[in-house]
Amino acid sequence: MHYTTLGRTGLSVSVAGLGCGGFSRLGLSTGGNEASAIGIIHAALDQGVNILDTASAYGTEAIVGKAIKRMPREQVVIATKSSVFRGGEGWPAERVVASLDNSLRELGIDCIDVFQLHAVPPSGYDHVRDAVVPALLKEKEKGKFRFLGITETSPNDLEHQMLLRAIPDGLWDVAMVAFHLMSQNTREAVFPAVLKHRVGTLLMFAVRSIFARKERVVEAMRELAAEGKVPQSLADDPDPLGFLIHPGGASSLTDAAYRYVRHEPGVDVVLFGTGDREHLRANIESILRPPLPEADRERLRQMFSHLRGVGLVAPPRAR
Ligand SMILES: NC(=O)c1ccc[n+]([C@@H]2O[C@H](COP(=O)([O-])OP(=O)(O)OC[C@H]3O[C@@H](n4cnc5c(N)ncnc54)[C@H](OP(=O)(O)O)[C@@H]3O)[C@@H](O)[C@H]2O)c1
Repeated sequence: MHYTTLGRTGLSVSVAGLGCGGFSRLGLSTGGNEASAIGIIHAALDQGVNILDTASAYGTEAIVGKAIKRMPREQVVIATKSSVFRGGEGWPAERVVASLDNSLRELGIDCIDVFQLHAVPPSGYDHVRDAVVPALLKEKEKGKFRFLGITETSPNDLEHQMLLRAIPDGLWDVAMVAFHLMSQNTREAVFPAVLKHRVGTLLMFAVRSIFARKERVVEAMRELAAEGKVPQSLADDPDPLGFLIHPGGASSLTDAAYRYVRHEPGVDVVLFGTGDREHLRANIESILRPPLPEADRERLRQMFSHLRGVGLVAPPRAR
């Protein structure tokens, strides 16, 4: 495993972080059970992963708590989240504090390393900053968490407007942001700001569903070509990203997707979500491999840097 410093938190974290939500939820959404989910966490920890990202909304905090119960607490960085908006309504601070207390109980720990506000829309940022953060900072003084984080709601915030306001505010030690090989505007929009303000980053959506299955890429190319956003030749190609897979290049689509994001300046931790031990092993291996060849990265930039919002939502059958 390789380790890096999570921005100004100073925490030493593995560059591969286990996401305990997403479509898999440690395999709970794909036929797994508590024992297999704990097995996934242990397999990740055995391979050097030392940061686990969960959330009250994922229903996996108690499983994370059981998985780390016998570990020295300082050996693992626990990031979790509270929701703060539902149905367009901002939660009052007391409800977020209650969620923090509940996370501590579910996880069975005294202090959360990174407590994040989950999926904050641009229109809700003022409420979060003015009504919720002051109350949370009092809880921080009591020792309930060490660092404050915020996550964007990617499909509803294609230009990363919320993070662009939050990052310079000095309130947030960690930001969770979406970035992948067909959703590239994070590079110009967000990464220079996190580097300037030394905000640590947890990267989500490197693979999501679009790069987990080739047919999803083909489907996306057809939709994009119909909208005139990519050439028809890409929609007609049965393997439109096949050019990435070659000796000296990527070994698979998911390998390409993780390696594409991993080496971008401004990216600290690449989160990956899985319920499959073979995927877990392969993903860590990919995240530790060198960047994709420069020619492939340049081709991806030319083909896709103008796109917004591709591959951020679930396909209908996974919703
Ligand atoms: N706004 C937010 O705060 C927010 C939103 C979304 C996600 N997140 C965080 O980000 C984490 C990562 O997001 P994500 O779960 O969408 O992760 P991801 O790594 O982008 O994609 C995971 C999907 O790809 C599949 N997959 C993973 N490795 C694979 C492989 N080697 N080959 C084929 N398929 C593979 C997984 O299914 P298998 O189980 O079959 O491997 C799963 O369906 C989440 O777990 C969560 O912690 C945060």
